[in-house]
Amino acid sequence: MPLRWRTLPHLLLLTLFSVATSCSAKEAAFENTAVVRTADLGGAIVHVMTTYAIKSLANGQDVYTVAFTKKERDSTSFLEVKVKGQKDPLEIRERPFYANAKFTHVDVLLPKKLAENATLNLVVETIQTHMTEPWPEYAGQKENQAMRYTSDLYVLSPYPTLVQRTKIKALAPRIISFTNPENVGAFASDSVASKSGATVTYGPFNNLPATADYDFIKSHQQPVTVRYYHDQPVLEVTSYKRAVEISHWGSNINTEDNIILHNAGPKLKGHFSRVDYQQQTYYGHPVPHILHSLRLDLPPGINNVYYYDLVGNVSTSRLNIAPAVPKGQVAKQDSNLELKPRYPLMGGWNYTFTLGWDADLASAASYNKSSGEYQIEVPIMTPISGAVVDNLELKVVLPEGATDIEVVTPYPSRAMWLERQTTYLDTIGRPVIMFEYKDLTMRHAQKIYVVYKLSVKEHFRKPFVVSAVFFGLFLFTFIVRRIDLTIHKKRKTA
Ligand SMILES: *[C@@H]1O[C@H](CO)[C@@H](O)[C@H](O)[C@H]1NC(C)=O
Ligand SMILES: *[C@@H]1O[C@H](CO)[C@@H](O)[C@H](O)[C@H]1NC(C)=O
Ligand SMILES: *[C@@H]1O[C@H](CO)[C@@H](O)[C@H](O)[C@H]1NC(C)=O
Ligand SMILES: *[C@@H]1O[C@H](CO)[C@@H](O)[C@H](O)[C@H]1NC(C)=O
Repeated sequence: MPLRWRTLPHLLLLTLFSVATSCSAKEAAFENTAVVRTADLGGAIVHVMTTYAIKSLANGQDVYTVAFTKKERDSTSFLEVKVKGQKDPLEIRERPFYANAKFTHVDVLLPKKLAENATLNLVVETIQTHMTEPWPEYAGQKENQAMRYTSDLYVLSPYPTLVQRTKIKALAPRIISFTNPENVGAFASDSVASKSGATVTYGPFNNLPATADYDFIKSHQQPVTVRYYHDQPVLEVTSYKRAVEISHWGSNINTEDNIILHNAGPKLKGHFSRVDYQQQTYYGHPVPHILHSLRLDLPPGINNVYYYDLVGNVSTSRLNIAPAVPKGQVAKQDSNLELKPRYPLMGGWNYTFTLGWDADLASAASYNKSSGEYQIEVPIMTPISGAVVDNLELKVVLPEGATDIEVVTPYPSRAMWLERQTTYLDTIGRPVIMFEYKDLTMRHAQKIYVVYKLSVKEHFRKPFVVSAVFFGLFLFTFIVRRIDLTIHKKRKTA
């Protein structure tokens, strides 16, 4: 069965090798009047905003290029470029690169051609995953959680830059230490690193040449490290498996998540002491790196919510279900689940659980009469605040007999394929669309749209099969009875 697939062009998942369109033969001519990079340090994710005040040095330019170090590129799972103050992202195209490249380029299509000396402010937003690590690696149950983040000192750009700064911000004003860069005399005065509250600033660096350049990197680029205390658990979802099953016959959409949660903070030194833990909780000094509970936003109007782990049902959680809204309308409120793992999740520990719910199909599906198509919206995942999802597998099970399947994804998946699943009461099997993703964050918690047709005949396939099975059951009991009777009779006659 053919599967048509479209993706929205302005979002690019950088973990995918994208085939770029033609590189422009003539390099564009720009100058960066100012470049400011701000890295907001989280636990497992780092949110980086870089603003480029650009000036066009030639007439009619409409492609601006941003550069990333290879390490940045490999750890970046979300990239969006906007004109400062505007809502819609600009279209971007990554250029191909070799595995051993030191840096990579992404072309940004500007909203209009820039004339000579015209200026524009661009905001490049990226999310880096797995760039922080607990340091030291081990911490006792009563100790602080220290993390470290290492970045490159200079922002790379194929254009010269008049002034550049990098700010690295922790969540709390508790910076432990930071690198003082050396050999920066060519672009700055001697003390270029300073700390104020929760922020470490590097720069200003003046009159930088094009920094996305092998010679510049060789003679000037250097790593800088910031160590900081982080007061929230560092969460990683090592495996997130979501299965969504659509049933027209029951007018139901079932969502089931199978999640392995990992506390990626410092590993627990020594043994876990429940007494210490209870004392800390009792005296109101819960240790920040221990996860006690997790608040999840689930869709409104859901029912039959279940939550169990490897031991069994977990009943210590609180659930508030928001009223359903018709499809297409924005929900005022989500349902909330305050999920309490069976045990406090210490550094290095894992917790495996399953969470599922049902919803009325009408909350997710709509039918287009003129094209005869159903359109279903499927959220890729439930966002878990601050966590990175290392591996996600999404399985969408369509009704039996669905044809002309088309999917629209908000960003490309690493892999996507179609298979067939036959379960109880199925005759020809159901089409199943599988998606695989890596390194997802809150910003990736978007929706996939699945469009398909289901003929009237197919619509009645299920009731028909069910009655056939019922008939079979009748027949079976009948036969059993007859045998029973026969034995009975035989006994009687014996
Ligand atoms: C652009 O600015 C430069 C320097 O200020 C000036 O020499 C040049 O004439 C300007 N070009 C245009 C087209 O205004
Ligand atoms: C878990 O809860 C569900 C619904 O409340 C119930 O149907 C099921 O039997 C329970 N399972 C166990 C193992 O207690
Ligand atoms: C948690 O899971 C990771 C891999 O997913 C594994 O390497 C680690 O040993 C597990 N930790 C514990 C305490 O079982
Ligand atoms: C319904 O399908 C028709 C024909 O394909 C299309 O022109 C129309 O835009 C669709 N309507 C909606 C609401 O998607």
